Amino acid sequence: MNMDVARTVFAGLPARYDRLAFLLSFGQDRRWRRAVVDQVAAVAPARVLDVATGPAGIALATAGRTGADVIGVDLNEPMLRAGVVQVRRSGRDGQVRLVVARAEELPFAGGVFDAVTFSYLLRYVDDPADTVAEMARCLRPGGILASLEFHVPPNPAWRVSWWLYTRCALPLLGALTGGRAWLRVGRFLGPSISAHYRRHPVDDHVAAWHAAGLSDVGVRLMSLGGGLVMWGRKDPTATGPRP
Ligand SMILES: C[S@@+](CC[C@H](N)C(=O)[O-])C[C@H]1O[C@@H](n2cnc3c(N)ncnc32)[C@H](O)[C@@H]1O
Repeated sequence: MNMDVARTVFAGLPARYDRLAFLLSFGQDRRWRRAVVDQVAAVAPARVLDVATGPAGIALATAGRTGADVIGVDLNEPMLRAGVVQVRRSGRDGQVRLVVARAEELPFAGGVFDAVTFSYLLRYVDDPADTVAEMARCLRPGGILASLEFHVPPNPAWRVSWWLYTRCALPLLGALTGGRAWLRVGRFLGPSISAHYRRHPVDDHVAAWHAAGLSDVGVRLMSLGGGLVMWGRKDPTATGPRP
């Protein structure tokens, strides 16, 4: 069911997705993504996988910053087509490849990437812990998993402002700037974030990362808690790659 939600919500958005990301993150989107790429750059990677890459924003930022070869995967072909345009525009066609695939079943052997990133993904999968384990499977021992998700501000005063923004301003801004498709996303987003953290509080995510064989798991709330960056390192003593 979540896969259908992801397909439907994003099918009509690719053309203006960057503006949408700007609105949804209170204009902080670039800074949040940079925090993910910082984590990846720390392992000087040669091969990186970006899951749910959409229009390839993090894939391209990682390629530019680290010089790594990057594969971006997404289940949504229209989003990937927007990514292909961005990759061509950046002149990094030889360095960044985009492939249709589901985060829950990645078409790669175990242990082949130095870093795996994902952003704004876990609300769309049925089992976030299993999906994190699948992404960790693709990491080499000592490799890094880094992610970005929306979050609900923990401070009660900020939470009220966030609630008003996501329930009232966002649908309105969406409708004004992108018509029906964005009105739909504007309405969907706030309740979807709240429901996600009711079902899976941050502590559960941290536990899932540990269960997936990641250690030194870090959590950083961004912009008063509207964003959440996480990272963790695959146990360097993990035995060879699982197929
Ligand atoms: C909000 S967009 C984020 C795109 C990109 N990560 C970014 O930061 O700009 C969410 C993306 O996740 C993709 N997605 C959702 N569920 C997925 C899944 N199970 N496997 C792969 N991609 C998925 C959607 O198609 C969409 O492109």
